Amino acid sequence: MIQEIEKYLQEVESFDTVDAKELENFRIRFAGKKGIINQLFAEFKSVPKKEKPKYGQLLNRLKRAVEKKVKELRMKTEATDIIETAEDLTKPGYPFPLGARHPISIVKNRIVDIFRRIGFNISEGPEIEDDWHNFTALNLPEYHPARDMQDTFFIQRHPDWLLRTHTSSVQIRYMEKHRPPIRTISPGRVYRNEDISARSHIQFHQVEGLYIDTDVSFADLKQGILFFVQEMFGKSKIRFRPSFFPFTEPSAEVDIYWGLETEDDYRITKGTGWLEIMGAGMVDPHVLKNMNIDPETYSGYAFGMGIERIAMLLFGITDIRMFYENDMRFLEQFKSVI
Ligand code: PHE
Repeated sequence: MIQEIEKYLQEVESFDTVDAKELENFRIRFAGKKGIINQLFAEFKSVPKKEKPKYGQLLNRLKRAVEKKVKELRMKTEATDIIETAEDLTKPGYPFPLGARHPISIVKNRIVDIFRRIGFNISEGPEIEDDWHNFTALNLPEYHPARDMQDTFFIQRHPDWLLRTHTSSVQIRYMEKHRPPIRTISPGRVYRNEDISARSHIQFHQVEGLYIDTDVSFADLKQGILFFVQEMFGKSKIRFRPSFFPFTEPSAEVDIYWGLETEDDYRITKGTGWLEIMGAGMVDPHVLKNMNIDPETYSGYAFGMGIERIAMLLFGITDIRMFYENDMRFLEQFKSVI
Protein backbone atom coordinates (compact mmCIF):
# COMPACT_ATOMS: atom_id res chain seq x y z
CA MET A 1 0.00 0.00 0.00
CA ILE A 2 2.75 2.36 0.89
CA GLN A 3 4.40 1.57 -2.38
CA GLU A 4 1.20 2.44 -4.17
CA ILE A 5 1.16 5.89 -2.60
CA GLU A 6 4.79 6.44 -3.47
CA LYS A 7 4.01 5.59 -7.08
CA TYR A 8 1.19 8.16 -7.08
CA LEU A 9 3.49 10.73 -5.56
CA GLN A 10 5.92 10.28 -8.37
CA GLU A 11 3.18 10.51 -10.92
CA VAL A 12 1.89 13.75 -9.43
CA GLU A 13 5.29 15.34 -9.27
CA SER A 14 6.14 14.58 -12.88
CA PHE A 15 2.73 15.62 -14.27
CA ASP A 16 2.74 18.60 -16.60
CA THR A 17 0.31 20.12 -19.06
CA VAL A 18 -0.71 23.41 -20.70
CA ASP A 19 -4.17 22.14 -21.43
CA ALA A 20 -6.91 23.22 -19.03
CA LYS A 21 -9.06 20.17 -19.71
CA GLU A 22 -6.23 17.77 -19.07
CA LEU A 23 -5.47 19.52 -15.81
CA GLU A 24 -9.09 19.27 -14.74
CA ASN A 25 -9.09 15.54 -15.46
CA PHE A 26 -5.97 15.21 -13.37
CA ARG A 27 -7.56 17.11 -10.51
CA ILE A 28 -10.71 15.00 -10.59
CA ARG A 29 -8.70 11.78 -10.73
CA PHE A 30 -6.81 12.66 -7.56
CA ALA A 31 -8.79 15.23 -5.61
CA GLY A 32 -12.33 14.59 -6.83
CA LYS A 33 -15.03 13.29 -4.48
CA LYS A 34 -14.43 9.74 -5.59
CA GLY A 35 -10.79 10.44 -6.39
CA ILE A 36 -7.69 8.52 -5.39
CA ILE A 37 -6.97 10.57 -2.29
CA ASN A 38 -10.41 10.06 -0.78
CA GLN A 39 -10.25 6.41 -1.62
CA LEU A 40 -6.88 6.08 0.10
CA PHE A 41 -8.21 7.89 3.16
CA ALA A 42 -11.12 5.48 3.25
CA GLU A 43 -8.68 2.61 3.26
CA PHE A 44 -6.82 4.08 6.25
CA LYS A 45 -9.00 2.07 8.64
CA SER A 46 -7.82 -1.24 7.29
CA VAL A 47 -4.12 -0.33 7.37
CA PRO A 48 -2.23 -2.35 9.98
CA LYS A 49 -1.59 -0.36 13.13
CA LYS A 50 2.18 -0.42 12.68
CA GLU A 51 2.01 1.16 9.27
CA LYS A 52 -0.59 3.75 10.15
CA PRO A 53 1.79 6.69 10.97
CA LYS A 54 3.84 6.25 7.82
CA TYR A 55 0.74 5.73 5.69
CA GLY A 56 -0.88 8.84 7.14
CA GLN A 57 2.19 10.96 6.53
CA LEU A 58 2.60 9.80 2.95
CA LEU A 59 -1.05 10.28 2.22
CA ASN A 60 -0.92 13.85 3.48
CA ARG A 61 2.12 14.49 1.37
CA LEU A 62 0.30 13.20 -1.67
CA LYS A 63 -2.67 15.44 -0.91
CA ARG A 64 -0.50 18.56 -0.63
CA ALA A 65 1.45 17.62 -3.74
CA VAL A 66 -1.76 17.39 -5.74
CA GLU A 67 -2.96 20.76 -4.42
CA LYS A 68 0.33 22.41 -5.26
CA LYS A 69 0.45 20.93 -8.74
CA VAL A 70 -3.10 22.00 -9.57
CA LYS A 71 -2.40 25.53 -8.41
CA GLU A 72 0.81 25.78 -10.38
CA LEU A 73 -0.54 24.35 -13.60
CA ARG A 74 -3.72 26.41 -13.39
CA MET A 75 -1.68 29.60 -13.80
CA LYS A 76 0.10 28.10 -16.73
CA THR A 77 -3.05 26.96 -18.53
CA GLU A 78 -4.79 30.29 -17.94
CA ALA A 79 -1.90 32.14 -19.55
CA THR A 80 -2.06 29.80 -22.53
CA ASP A 81 -5.79 30.40 -22.74
CA ILE A 82 -5.28 34.15 -23.11
CA ILE A 83 -2.65 33.72 -25.76
CA GLU A 84 -4.79 31.26 -27.68
CA THR A 85 -7.88 33.48 -27.74
CA ALA A 86 -5.91 36.54 -28.83
CA GLU A 87 -5.66 35.01 -32.32
CA ASP A 88 -2.63 36.73 -33.73
CA LEU A 89 -0.53 38.79 -31.36
CA THR A 90 1.40 40.40 -34.17
CA LYS A 91 -1.75 41.90 -35.69
CA PRO A 92 -1.96 45.72 -35.49
CA GLY A 93 -4.36 47.01 -32.81
CA TYR A 94 -7.92 48.11 -33.53
CA PRO A 95 -8.09 51.73 -34.66
CA PHE A 96 -9.79 54.23 -32.34
CA PRO A 97 -12.08 56.25 -34.60
CA LEU A 98 -11.32 59.94 -34.14
CA GLY A 99 -14.36 62.18 -33.95
CA ALA A 100 -14.62 65.70 -35.28
CA ARG A 101 -16.58 68.69 -34.13
CA HIS A 102 -19.30 69.92 -36.43
CA PRO A 103 -18.09 72.98 -38.37
CA ILE A 104 -20.93 75.02 -36.85
CA SER A 105 -19.66 74.17 -33.36
CA ILE A 106 -16.09 74.96 -34.34
CA VAL A 107 -17.00 78.43 -35.56
CA LYS A 108 -19.42 79.07 -32.69
CA ASN A 109 -16.75 78.19 -30.14
CA ARG A 110 -14.25 80.48 -31.81
CA ILE A 111 -16.68 83.41 -31.79
CA VAL A 112 -17.71 82.79 -28.20
CA ASP A 113 -14.10 82.49 -27.04
CA ILE A 114 -13.17 85.82 -28.55
CA PHE A 115 -15.99 87.67 -26.82
CA ARG A 116 -15.39 85.84 -23.58
CA ARG A 117 -11.92 87.29 -23.53
CA ILE A 118 -13.36 90.81 -23.40
CA GLY A 119 -15.78 90.05 -20.57
CA PHE A 120 -18.91 88.72 -22.26
CA ASN A 121 -20.76 85.85 -20.65
CA ILE A 122 -22.92 83.32 -22.48
CA SER A 123 -26.71 83.26 -22.34
CA GLU A 124 -29.18 80.88 -23.84
CA GLY A 125 -32.93 80.73 -24.30
CA PRO A 126 -35.73 78.60 -25.75
CA GLU A 127 -36.04 77.94 -29.48
CA ILE A 128 -39.84 78.05 -29.19
CA GLU A 129 -40.50 81.66 -28.27
CA ASP A 130 -43.50 83.84 -27.65
CA ASP A 131 -44.31 86.88 -29.73
CA TRP A 132 -43.20 89.29 -27.00
CA HIS A 133 -39.62 88.07 -26.70
CA ASN A 134 -39.03 87.52 -30.40
CA PHE A 135 -40.78 90.60 -31.79
CA THR A 136 -42.81 92.99 -29.68
CA ALA A 137 -40.29 93.71 -26.93
CA LEU A 138 -37.74 94.32 -29.65
CA ASN A 139 -39.78 97.17 -31.05
CA LEU A 140 -41.33 95.02 -33.76
CA PRO A 141 -45.04 95.40 -33.04
CA GLU A 142 -47.65 93.34 -34.83
CA TYR A 143 -48.16 94.41 -38.45
CA HIS A 144 -44.79 96.15 -38.49
CA PRO A 145 -43.41 95.63 -42.00
CA ALA A 146 -39.99 94.63 -40.63
CA ARG A 147 -41.58 91.40 -39.43
CA ASP A 148 -41.84 90.33 -43.06
CA MET A 149 -38.09 89.93 -43.23
CA GLN A 150 -38.25 87.38 -40.47
CA ASP A 151 -41.24 85.25 -41.39
CA THR A 152 -41.20 82.07 -39.35
CA PHE A 153 -43.13 79.00 -38.23
CA PHE A 154 -45.98 79.43 -35.81
CA ILE A 155 -47.37 76.80 -33.48
CA GLN A 156 -50.89 76.21 -34.76
CA ARG A 157 -52.54 75.39 -31.44
CA HIS A 158 -50.84 78.30 -29.73
CA PRO A 159 -50.72 81.28 -32.09
CA ASP A 160 -48.60 83.30 -29.71
CA TRP A 161 -45.79 80.77 -29.99
CA LEU A 162 -43.28 80.59 -32.81
CA LEU A 163 -39.84 79.30 -33.66
CA ARG A 164 -37.49 82.16 -32.83
CA THR A 165 -36.11 84.05 -35.80
CA HIS A 166 -33.04 85.40 -34.03
CA THR A 167 -31.38 85.08 -30.64
CA SER A 168 -32.20 88.72 -29.88
CA SER A 169 -35.04 87.08 -27.94
CA VAL A 170 -32.43 85.73 -25.53
CA GLN A 171 -31.20 89.27 -24.92
CA ILE A 172 -34.71 90.30 -23.93
CA ARG A 173 -34.89 87.38 -21.52
CA TYR A 174 -31.51 88.32 -20.15
CA MET A 175 -32.56 91.94 -19.55
CA GLU A 176 -35.66 90.73 -17.72
CA LYS A 177 -33.42 89.05 -15.17
CA HIS A 178 -30.29 91.22 -15.06
CA ARG A 179 -29.55 94.89 -14.56
CA PRO A 180 -26.70 96.75 -16.28
CA PRO A 181 -23.81 96.52 -16.69
CA ILE A 182 -24.65 93.75 -19.16
CA ARG A 183 -22.22 92.01 -21.47
CA THR A 184 -23.69 88.87 -22.86
CA ILE A 185 -23.44 86.80 -25.97
CA SER A 186 -26.20 84.46 -27.15
CA PRO A 187 -25.41 81.62 -29.52
CA GLY A 188 -28.14 79.36 -30.80
CA ARG A 189 -30.30 77.92 -33.53
CA VAL A 190 -32.90 80.09 -35.23
CA TYR A 191 -35.58 79.55 -37.87
CA ARG A 192 -37.04 81.44 -40.78
CA ASN A 193 -39.56 80.62 -43.45
CA GLU A 194 -37.20 80.69 -46.41
CA ASP A 195 -36.90 78.61 -49.54
CA ILE A 196 -34.21 76.00 -49.08
CA SER A 197 -31.32 76.52 -51.47
CA ALA A 198 -27.53 76.50 -51.53
CA ARG A 199 -27.55 79.91 -49.83
CA SER A 200 -30.52 79.81 -47.45
CA HIS A 201 -32.31 77.37 -45.20
CA ILE A 202 -35.23 77.29 -42.79
CA GLN A 203 -32.78 76.88 -39.93
CA PHE A 204 -29.43 78.40 -39.19
CA HIS A 205 -27.32 79.49 -36.24
CA GLN A 206 -26.52 82.88 -34.83
CA VAL A 207 -24.38 84.56 -32.27
CA GLU A 208 -25.78 87.82 -30.99
CA GLY A 209 -24.19 90.15 -28.48
CA LEU A 210 -25.48 92.80 -26.11
CA TYR A 211 -23.49 95.39 -24.19
CA ILE A 212 -25.24 97.84 -21.85
CA ASP A 213 -23.63 100.22 -19.41
CA THR A 214 -23.34 103.93 -18.71
CA ASP A 215 -21.67 105.97 -21.45
CA VAL A 216 -21.58 103.29 -24.12
CA SER A 217 -21.14 104.97 -27.49
CA PHE A 218 -20.94 104.06 -31.15
CA ALA A 219 -17.16 104.19 -30.79
CA ASP A 220 -17.36 101.29 -28.32
CA LEU A 221 -19.42 99.32 -30.82
CA LYS A 222 -16.88 99.91 -33.57
CA GLN A 223 -13.98 99.02 -31.36
CA GLY A 224 -15.63 95.85 -30.05
CA ILE A 225 -16.39 94.66 -33.56
CA LEU A 226 -12.97 95.60 -34.89
CA PHE A 227 -11.39 93.54 -32.13
CA PHE A 228 -13.59 90.59 -33.05
CA VAL A 229 -12.81 90.86 -36.76
CA GLN A 230 -9.08 91.02 -36.11
CA GLU A 231 -9.16 87.99 -33.84
CA MET A 232 -11.50 85.95 -36.00
CA PHE A 233 -10.33 86.72 -39.51
CA GLY A 234 -6.97 88.41 -39.07
CA LYS A 235 -8.33 91.36 -41.04
CA SER A 236 -8.32 94.91 -39.77
CA LYS A 237 -10.36 96.95 -42.21
CA ILE A 238 -14.09 97.23 -41.54
CA ARG A 239 -16.83 99.56 -42.68
CA PHE A 240 -20.29 100.34 -41.38
CA ARG A 241 -23.10 100.82 -43.88
CA PRO A 242 -26.28 102.50 -42.62
CA SER A 243 -29.12 100.03 -42.26
CA PHE A 244 -32.32 99.49 -40.34
CA PHE A 245 -33.28 97.23 -37.45
CA PRO A 246 -36.29 98.13 -35.30
CA PHE A 247 -34.33 97.37 -32.10
CA THR A 248 -31.26 99.49 -32.83
CA GLU A 249 -30.83 103.17 -33.68
CA PRO A 250 -28.66 103.92 -35.52
CA SER A 251 -28.24 100.57 -37.23
CA ALA A 252 -25.55 99.33 -39.53
CA GLU A 253 -24.39 96.41 -41.59
CA VAL A 254 -20.76 95.62 -40.94
CA ASP A 255 -18.50 94.67 -43.83
CA ILE A 256 -14.93 93.48 -43.61
CA TYR A 257 -12.36 94.11 -46.28
CA TRP A 258 -11.59 90.61 -47.47
CA GLY A 259 -9.27 91.55 -50.31
CA LEU A 260 -9.21 90.61 -53.98
CA GLU A 261 -6.25 88.34 -54.31
CA THR A 262 -7.71 85.09 -55.55
CA GLU A 263 -10.51 84.07 -57.83
CA ASP A 264 -12.43 82.93 -54.77
CA ASP A 265 -12.12 86.42 -53.29
CA TYR A 266 -13.79 87.80 -56.43
CA ARG A 267 -16.55 85.24 -56.17
CA ILE A 268 -17.38 85.64 -52.48
CA THR A 269 -17.10 89.43 -52.46
CA LYS A 270 -18.82 89.81 -55.83
CA GLY A 271 -15.80 91.63 -57.12
CA THR A 272 -15.90 94.39 -54.49
CA GLY A 273 -13.41 92.99 -51.96
CA TRP A 274 -15.95 93.74 -49.20
CA LEU A 275 -17.94 91.15 -47.36
CA GLU A 276 -20.97 91.66 -45.13
CA ILE A 277 -20.65 89.73 -41.86
CA MET A 278 -23.10 91.13 -39.33
CA GLY A 279 -25.82 93.54 -38.34
CA ALA A 280 -25.26 95.90 -35.45
CA GLY A 281 -26.37 99.13 -33.83
CA MET A 282 -27.03 101.09 -30.68
CA VAL A 283 -29.86 99.57 -28.64
CA ASP A 284 -33.05 101.54 -29.33
CA PRO A 285 -34.23 103.49 -26.24
CA HIS A 286 -37.67 101.91 -26.70
CA VAL A 287 -36.20 98.47 -26.10
CA LEU A 288 -34.45 99.68 -22.94
CA LYS A 289 -37.73 101.20 -21.73
CA ASN A 290 -39.55 97.92 -22.40
CA MET A 291 -37.01 96.33 -20.08
CA ASN A 292 -37.31 99.03 -17.42
CA ILE A 293 -33.79 100.21 -18.04
CA ASP A 294 -33.56 104.01 -18.01
CA PRO A 295 -32.26 105.16 -21.42
CA GLU A 296 -31.17 108.46 -19.88
CA THR A 297 -28.66 106.64 -17.71
CA TYR A 298 -27.80 103.63 -19.81
CA SER A 299 -26.98 103.01 -23.39
CA GLY A 300 -25.69 99.99 -25.24
CA TYR A 301 -24.89 98.27 -28.45
CA ALA A 302 -25.99 95.01 -29.99
CA PHE A 303 -24.88 92.91 -32.91
CA GLY A 304 -25.79 89.65 -34.56
CA MET A 305 -24.17 87.35 -37.06
CA GLY A 306 -24.91 84.08 -38.81
CA ILE A 307 -22.57 81.21 -38.01
CA GLU A 308 -23.17 79.29 -41.25
CA ARG A 309 -22.15 82.24 -43.35
CA ILE A 310 -18.86 82.59 -41.51
CA ALA A 311 -18.22 78.83 -41.57
CA MET A 312 -18.85 78.76 -45.32
CA LEU A 313 -16.38 81.59 -45.72
CA LEU A 314 -13.65 80.06 -43.56
CA PHE A 315 -13.92 76.50 -44.88
CA GLY A 316 -14.86 77.25 -48.46
CA ILE A 317 -18.24 75.50 -48.19
CA THR A 318 -20.51 76.40 -51.08
CA ASP A 319 -23.81 74.81 -50.06
CA ILE A 320 -25.48 75.57 -46.69
CA ARG A 321 -27.47 72.32 -46.86
CA MET A 322 -24.31 70.32 -46.23
CA PHE A 323 -24.33 71.47 -42.60
CA TYR A 324 -27.55 69.60 -41.88
CA GLU A 325 -27.19 66.45 -43.95
CA ASN A 326 -24.74 64.75 -41.59
CA ASP A 327 -22.88 63.15 -44.44
CA MET A 328 -19.84 61.50 -42.85
CA ARG A 329 -17.69 62.34 -45.87
CA PHE A 330 -18.34 66.01 -45.13
CA LEU A 331 -18.10 65.85 -41.33
CA GLU A 332 -14.89 63.83 -41.32
CA GLN A 333 -13.07 66.62 -43.03
CA PHE A 334 -13.05 68.68 -39.84
CA LYS A 335 -11.01 66.26 -37.73
CA SER A 336 -7.92 68.39 -37.72
CA VAL A 337 -9.73 71.69 -37.12
CA ILE A 338 -10.30 73.01 -33.63
N1 PHE B 1 -31.30 90.23 -34.91
C1 PHE B 1 -30.74 90.69 -36.16
C2 PHE B 1 -31.02 89.61 -37.22
O1 PHE B 1 -31.25 88.49 -36.86
C3 PHE B 1 -29.26 90.94 -36.08
C4 PHE B 1 -28.94 92.12 -35.23
C5 PHE B 1 -28.71 91.95 -33.89
C6 PHE B 1 -28.89 93.39 -35.77
C7 PHE B 1 -28.43 93.03 -33.07
C8 PHE B 1 -28.58 94.47 -34.97
C9 PHE B 1 -28.36 94.27 -33.64
O2 PHE B 1 -31.03 89.90 -38.39
